[in-house]
Parts: sequence; C-alpha cells; structure tokens
Amino acid sequence: MPTITTKPSYWATGRPKGNLPKAFDPALVRADFPLLRQKMRGCPLAYLDNAATSQKPQAVLATLTRYYTHLNANIHRGVYKLSADATAAYEAAREKAAHFIGATTAQEIVFVRGATEAINLVAASWGGMNLGPDDEIIVSEMEHHSNIVPWQLLGRRTGARIRVLPFSDAGDLKLEELDRLFSPRTKLLAVTQVSNVLGTLNPVAEIAAQAHAHGALLLVDAAQSAPHIPVRVRELCCDFLALSGHKMCGPTGIGVLWARAELLGAMDPWQGGGDMIRTVTFAESTWNDTPHKFEAGTPPIAEAVGLGAAVDYLTSLGMEAIQRYEDELVQYLLEKLHGVPGLRIIGTPRQRVAVTSFVMDGVHPHDIGTILDSAGVAIRTGHHCCQPVMEHYHVPATARVSLAFYNNRQDIDQLAAALKTVKEVFG
Ligand code: ALA
Repeated sequence: MPTITTKPSYWATGRPKGNLPKAFDPALVRADFPLLRQKMRGCPLAYLDNAATSQKPQAVLATLTRYYTHLNANIHRGVYKLSADATAAYEAAREKAAHFIGATTAQEIVFVRGATEAINLVAASWGGMNLGPDDEIIVSEMEHHSNIVPWQLLGRRTGARIRVLPFSDAGDLKLEELDRLFSPRTKLLAVTQVSNVLGTLNPVAEIAAQAHAHGALLLVDAAQSAPHIPVRVRELCCDFLALSGHKMCGPTGIGVLWARAELLGAMDPWQGGGDMIRTVTFAESTWNDTPHKFEAGTPPIAEAVGLGAAVDYLTSLGMEAIQRYEDELVQYLLEKLHGVPGLRIIGTPRQRVAVTSFVMDGVHPHDIGTILDSAGVAIRTGHHCCQPVMEHYHVPATARVSLAFYNNRQDIDQLAAALKTVKEVFG
C-alpha cells in the first residue's frame, strides 16, 4: 500500500534524510512553493496577502495527490483495508495537530472548516448550554467579524450581552479596562492572539489569568498566530482555541477547534448526522465519543490529511526559526514603508506579527491594491472583516501587507518600488 509521506520536499534538496534542517534557509524554503515561481502581470509574483491565505508547499500538494490517487475512501465506516487506511491517515492528522499546539490528547482536537466554524461551534454548543439572559461575553475591539458575529447571534438566542475591550491608537489592548468590564455575569472572554489588521500580538496568558480570576473562560482566535509563532495551548492557559489550516500552508476547508477535554466532554453536539452518534432510535439518540460527536457527516478527509502534511512541514522548519526570520522581515518592511512619502502606517503595537496596514494621502486603498497588482504585488485592501477597527481609525479601508516565512526582501523591495509608482500616479 502506498504510504502517505508527509516529509517536506525541503528534505529532498540535498540535506541527508532524517536530519532536521539546522538553519532556516529562506532560499531553500521558497523553492518548496511552486506557485511562487510564476510571473504575475509579467513580473515576479510578490505574494503579500498571507493573512488571507497562505501558499502551499510541494509536500502538501503531493500529499493531497497521493491521498486521492491511492488512499481515498470514507472513514470510520468501512471494514475494508482502504477505508481503514484512510481512517488511519485522518486520525494521524489529528495527532499531528494535537502535537503542534501542545494539546494533551488528540481527543481535544475537533476538525472543523476553519477558525470561523470553530468559534461558531463553541457559541452554538457551549454558549447555548451555558449562557442565559444578561450573561456577558467580552470581546476585543480588534476582533475579526468571525469572533464578534457568532456571539451576537448567540446573544439574540439567549439574551446574553457583549462587552468590548478597547485598544489604544497604537493598536494595543487596554488591559487596564478589564477590571471595569468583568462582572459576576461574565462567562467568556474571546480574543484574537494576533490582529489580522494591526499585527498586534496580544498577551494571551495574561488575559487568561484575568479571565479565570473572574470565573470566565477564554477563547483564543489563533488563525493569525499559528502560522507565525509557536502556539502552545497549555502555555496560553486558554480554554478554547481556533485555527484555520489554509493560513498555515494547509488546504482550505479544514481547521481546528481545540478545547480542554472536560469542556468538550460536557458540550452537546452542534450538528446532527452520521458518525456523531452511538445509537439512533425515533425516540432518542445518543452521541459518539469526543471529538467525533462534533464531526457530523463525511468530514474533509483529504484536507485533514493535507493539514497534517502542513504541520509536518512547519515543524520541520521549526516555528521558532519561522518567528525569528519573520521578525527580521517585518522590521525590513517597516523601514521600507517609512520611506514612502505620504504613507501612514496604522498602529504601532508593542509586538507585531507579520501584518502591517497602511493608508496613503489622497489614494483609496483599492487603487493602491490595483496599481500594486499591475506590478505583480498581491496585497489585500478593504476592511479585512474588521469594521470596528476601521471605525476606530476613522478610515473606510486600509491596504494591508501580510508576510509569511517564504517571503523575502526582494518581495518587499518590489512592493516599495510599486508604492512609489502609486505616489507618482496620484501625485
Ligand atoms: N480573515 C482573512 C483576512 O484577514 C480572510 O484576510
């Protein structure tokens, strides 16, 4: 039977098999990403929209092809070998995800569509069981809509209310406001670890300590942190954590909800269907064990296996090495942006991860994006699903550069040159 090999192609670039890379080599790493070799609008592609989605290394692409070529079958259902092997590959991916975020057991990993679905699951299941009228949820002012709207929907159903933890103009959370915001009715605090607009790295462990001291649980949106820094749930001391596979070199349509085993054990399923049940009669049904009771229907099997390959790839590079490299690249990016006349960076957070937003005098961000595109530079423009952040800075939209470890200084030089063209076009 062909095995699913998840070793990155990085290993096949001259390093002896079995040895982890000793040093992070940006050139070797970039060569692992076929998409980045293509030209865009006749220019080298400078892909700087990694907060929206990441590119995929050859190791992930090959794993997906191998999965569909040799291993595809439905899981947890077949008595035949192919189904057993597909099941093993899917469950191995769960183990990898658990290891990647320092979970105690793979049973704490629920596969979902992405961070958005993870948060909706918690709101629907845990929130529906634990929140009532006038209970409170604190969310920060810098949350993505996916960490605001599920709580608003929950509030409509239960009467629970949202309170907002503000941030300073620099883009740092005003933690000193927390004492005022907590009340005996606070049940949950939901916060992003890294802002997808400002790049702020929030002090999650400190926030967790405060939440727990007030008897509240902490949910962390790690969609923008897990691709860039080591994320360990036990060190963060959180209760729920959500991440998206496609932002960390995995396929789209797969993500992870992590929660402490006792929380998952006490939560009701949120969707009904096949595989999440133990018994079904017309009188009543009983549930499968955690985490399967949260995975109704045929799950995204290939995508989970692909996420496992992405986790292997990131692990082989080392998240600490990725963080060090990206820290240097962010500093280089900031230097270059500071050199563009009329460009204003939005937010100067104490600790920044991978992301920088900016505006330019007299130019709409969409025009910046369009001119950059004509020079092969891909960035995102708009409100980034964070309308409250736009409101904070009184701007309708920003331009946003978001880095990954496969970017390099040439990408940033190409961006800086294209920004000079924007300035020339708009005077
Ligand atoms: N949430 C993603 C972003 O910020 C799509 O771009």
